[in-house]
Amino acid sequence: MRIVAFAASTSSRSINKQLIRYASLLLAGGLIGDDVTVEVLDIGDYEMPIYSIDRQDADGIPESAHRFHGRIAEADALIISFAEHNGYYTAAYKNLYDWASRIDRKVYQEKPIVMLATSPGGRGAAGVLERAMEAAERQGADVRAGLSVPDFNDNFDVDEGRLVNDDIDRAFRQALSTLARN
Ligand SMILES: Cc1cc2nc3c(=O)[nH]c(=O)nc-3n(C[C@H](O)[C@H](O)[C@H](O)COP(=O)(O)O)c2cc1C
Repeated sequence: MRIVAFAASTSSRSINKQLIRYASLLLAGGLIGDDVTVEVLDIGDYEMPIYSIDRQDADGIPESAHRFHGRIAEADALIISFAEHNGYYTAAYKNLYDWASRIDRKVYQEKPIVMLATSPGGRGAAGVLERAMEAAERQGADVRAGLSVPDFNDNFDVDEGRLVNDDIDRAFRQALSTLARN
């Protein structure tokens, strides 16, 4: 089983990237079986101009959008951790998503997905997670679980690279385990 995982953030010190790294360690460690590989993408590797129909008409769809679409196509399942900017996706992810949706409206290509989100605040980016999950069906996502991690700095040990709140850690492992189902 090939899982593609990424944070919807371009920050080099992204807390969502840290959550994704922890998820990938758990899965590589056999959480849902031995035959699992996790490939962690950095959406900063898929940078492109701000979407506009005029740009698309003039220059077509950027090669980066095709590459991103191809990585999803190759995956058996996805894990996405959403950073929240003013209640929504980061501009970088929205832009990537918009371009990719010009290749295939159902960007997530019917893949099983676990959707995560975290922020330093008490709501744990629950707003963007709710919006992503609400839109998911129209976007071709088979959402298996969604989990927001509040108060990231209290609940995650950055040096150890793991969740240190037992209840949240249990819910996190449970959410990832839903990818084991067909
Ligand atoms: C422009 C901007 C808007 C933000 N808006 C929100 C918000 O609406 N809700 C929230 O919980 N945090 C918000 N934050 C704080 C982010 O949650 C915080 O920067 C977090 O580290 C982003 O995730 P990342 O580190 O994975 O990029 C905002 C940060 C920025 C820079």
